[in-house]
Amino acid sequence: CNYLVERSRGEIIDTLVDGLERLEYRGYDSTGLAIDGDEPDSTMIFKQIGKVSALKKEIKRQNPNRDVTFVSHCGIAHTRWATHGEPKQVNCHPQRSDPNNEFVVVHNGIITNFRELKTLLTNKGFKFESDTDTECIAKLFKHIYDTNVQNGNDLDFHELTKLVLLELEGSYGLLCRSSHYPNEVIATRKGSPLLIGVKSEKKLKVDFVDVEFPDDNRPETPIHNGTSNHINGSRIPNGNGPTTTNGNSNHINGLKKAHNLLPIATNEFNLRHSQSRAFLSEDGTPNPVEFFLSSDAASVIKHTKKVLFLEDDDLAHIYDGELHIHRSRKEVGASMTRSIQTLEMELAQIMKGPYKHFMQKEIYEQPESTLNTMRGRIDFDNNSIMLGGLKAWLPAIRRARRLIMVACGTSYHSCLATRAIFEELSEIPVSVELASDFLDRKSPVFRDDICVFVSQSGETADTMLALNYCLERGALTVGIVNSVGSSLSRATHCGVHINAGPEIGVASTKAYTSQYIALVMVALSLSDDRVSKLERRKDIIQGLKLIPGQIKQVLNLEDRIKKLCENELKDQKSLLLLGRGYQFASALEGALKIKEISYMHSEGVLAGELKHGVLALVDENLPIIAFGTRDSLFPKVVSSIEQVTARKGHPIVICNENDDVWAKKAESVHLETLEVPQTVDCLQGLLNIIPLQLMSYWLAVNKGIDVDFPRNLAKSVTVE
Ligand code: G6P
Repeated sequence: CNYLVERSRGEIIDTLVDGLERLEYRGYDSTGLAIDGDEPDSTMIFKQIGKVSALKKEIKRQNPNRDVTFVSHCGIAHTRWATHGEPKQVNCHPQRSDPNNEFVVVHNGIITNFRELKTLLTNKGFKFESDTDTECIAKLFKHIYDTNVQNGNDLDFHELTKLVLLELEGSYGLLCRSSHYPNEVIATRKGSPLLIGVKSEKKLKVDFVDVEFPDDNRPETPIHNGTSNHINGSRIPNGNGPTTTNGNSNHINGLKKAHNLLPIATNEFNLRHSQSRAFLSEDGTPNPVEFFLSSDAASVIKHTKKVLFLEDDDLAHIYDGELHIHRSRKEVGASMTRSIQTLEMELAQIMKGPYKHFMQKEIYEQPESTLNTMRGRIDFDNNSIMLGGLKAWLPAIRRARRLIMVACGTSYHSCLATRAIFEELSEIPVSVELASDFLDRKSPVFRDDICVFVSQSGETADTMLALNYCLERGALTVGIVNSVGSSLSRATHCGVHINAGPEIGVASTKAYTSQYIALVMVALSLSDDRVSKLERRKDIIQGLKLIPGQIKQVLNLEDRIKKLCENELKDQKSLLLLGRGYQFASALEGALKIKEISYMHSEGVLAGELKHGVLALVDENLPIIAFGTRDSLFPKVVSSIEQVTARKGHPIVICNENDDVWAKKAESVHLETLEVPQTVDCLQGLLNIIPLQLMSYWLAVNKGIDVDFPRNLAKSVTVE
């Protein structure tokens, strides 16, 4: 949205399209945008399935006049990952209320009661054109607006939105623009991330925004007035709508001004219906300002580093260069201010640099990213750890009788990889849970439980739901998160940022190694009062010191791995990965990497379970990768690999350098080795996973797969 900043339509389109391109790394399947049309107060919509480049072509084909200029304008755009309805043009967002585009909406999340709403709105005469849940929202806006107009109620855009939100169940990060409210935009969220970047030419008078709470003397659901029409649990007004109550609020120009609202670009008078353009900056002079709203800082950072994160049930209303935040529901004790933060992230950080793909870049960043996870936290001279975000909570955590780790995908594997060292050092029983299964089982959680949530994005819906579930039950929650400012990092009581830097490749690589290290550091912190663990802690801390350099060494295997992918592994349909103990997680994570990126079936198998079924698959053709690095379970792993070679299998063994057990075996049976440096047993997985990351990368590249955009997957899965 721009106010007092002259922008051509071409510039507006380019800004929106560029913002979408920055979100493309998430792997979405269709795109669209809505901007002002040629007629006064009209809206034009462009949409297309596929990548943003397809949308660009579509816009070019429709050839809108790019030269028209706007002093004030609000445009909205979206990249979609299909939840309801297949990827096809009518299902792309923006979704609209009617053929005249009166209300236009983009939405992340899922409206769970959309079927009821659709039935109801269809009965009211609305004609649906898509299979999406989002279309209900646009139509609901129009329905409630029309009903109120018929009843002579002049609703402010945010008041209208509050009434719409009352009808919605599910999750949303939502933007709405309307021809009835020109140059205004609504942004609201519940369970889906949303942030607002502020770019102001002059210094703003305040760097925080007070949140307006519903007036105490105003009924919370004024539209119902006791006469609402409940159908299938939905609460649509039946036409006997209310008049909005004025309470004791302060009206200027006939509009309501909240008494506890301090807008940024502070504007003492509400200018919505006046022609005046007086926007006050710190020095009281007009202030040209632009707002960039997004679910991800990556698309905002180019324009401004000043951002404000909306919280669940916040309803932001932007008009005339002002940002007003309201609450869509009453809540005792909710925070009253939203401050504007400065993002640390540099645009360069999220670009590919000299690498062909983000995934390759991120694999190669690991010597640095792992170091960044430890930087300033480990004192290698005194073998001590200091995790600032956890310090005050350590005594409470140490008292716990059990600890539950909850995550999805790769983050889940980092929990599995560190579970044993957690139990060993903390002497607290640890269970590791996949968020969705944990919720499905409605697993019992108690007030004295410690629940650790691990997530790269900090936005994964399943993990967030599990977090809310544990919060409701009074557990102490800890977040291990990469994305600073993400929902998970804000909702947990305490935690550790893994500081790996933005991860853009859909297949998680550097986040895994950093999560692994962060979890080991937490385990070390929990045991720093135990004399009996002194020597073990010292070994691990000194081991951690060498990890970044050792990762660098493992990366030198790339040429060998590339050749394996071009020869032995080429055209294979399936791959088994064997590991046990600490290396079971490496087997699972390696298998996940391979299937995600190369679409090759791969399975991580616990070596001890081999004889209980999987052995039936083994013959001279099935490729097998085995983790045969040294630890207390080494003899057992050797025997599992012997079971494979006895069945004419040709394993590739990931082993420690100069391990003559494998060198000798290779003389008598068909076996290849990939050598990695040795480290402390509980850290070995940090090195062992690197060859698998490289292997999945090269298998995918050789197949011509778009590594950063694997089919059907998204970087951040914000739906259940
Ligand atoms: C998606 C991604 C995975 C990721 C998982 C958990 O499925 O494709 O790479 O591991 O979500 O994401 P999180 O952000 O919570 O770590």
